[in-house]
Amino acid sequence: MPIRQFQAQRMHAPRDFQAIANTPVCIEIGAGKGKHALLFSGQHPEQTLYAIERTREKFLAMQKQHGLEPHANLQPVHADALPWIVHALYPAQVEQCFILYPNPEPHNPAQRWLNMPFFEFLLSRLQPNGQITLASNIPEYIAEAEQQLLALWKLPFEKQRIAADSARTHFEIKYLQRGELCQQLIIRKPEGYRTRFDDFQPLQGQSPAQAVEE
Ligand SMILES: C[S@@+](CC[C@H](N)C(=O)[O-])C[C@H]1O[C@@H](n2cnc3c(N)ncnc32)[C@H](O)[C@@H]1O
Repeated sequence: MPIRQFQAQRMHAPRDFQAIANTPVCIEIGAGKGKHALLFSGQHPEQTLYAIERTREKFLAMQKQHGLEPHANLQPVHADALPWIVHALYPAQVEQCFILYPNPEPHNPAQRWLNMPFFEFLLSRLQPNGQITLASNIPEYIAEAEQQLLALWKLPFEKQRIAADSARTHFEIKYLQRGELCQQLIIRKPEGYRTRFDDFQPLQGQSPAQAVEE
């Protein structure tokens, strides 16, 4: 793959990190105030969802709402998703991953999810036939992601237009009310798909390996 390798072994554990069991899970990256996380966990009581949010105020709002709607299968996580995923998740553990209306990073294309070396690590955590849902109101963001899926990641996907009455997240509601086109890619990891991280076990809070460099 013509992309530099993600340095997973250098990731420090998130503060107050807690390890999880190696059972199938769903994850949401950038869950915001948790609207979708609460909807999904309510509609799928048999699935466990880890909803990861980095911004403290949004995480606290999600936690508060979870207190009012205490779904036992929802685990809000206050962390940066990259180190949390590296420390917590086992290979092929994830059934579904949601990335809904990520920051568009207009001045920093390298920080968009499908342009990041980390995306290969994320793929290693997906189970065969596992799915990533990537939603955006920015047509160029979706077009770039499609291009990366074809040229770099070589993954099958389906593009969908999001219905005008959909209301899964606060950002989705805002964009649809403005009449903006919202789209999503449903990305599937085929059986037999390989990454360079397929044998990488979760760091579980261990200190990162020292870089062996001169
Ligand atoms: C534009 S908001 C969308 C929030 C929510 N998904 C929605 O649609 O309403 C993007 C969110 O992703 C979070 N985020 C961005 N990078 C993250 C990361 N590396 N780990 C965890 N959360 C992240 C931001 O804090 C922000 O809340």
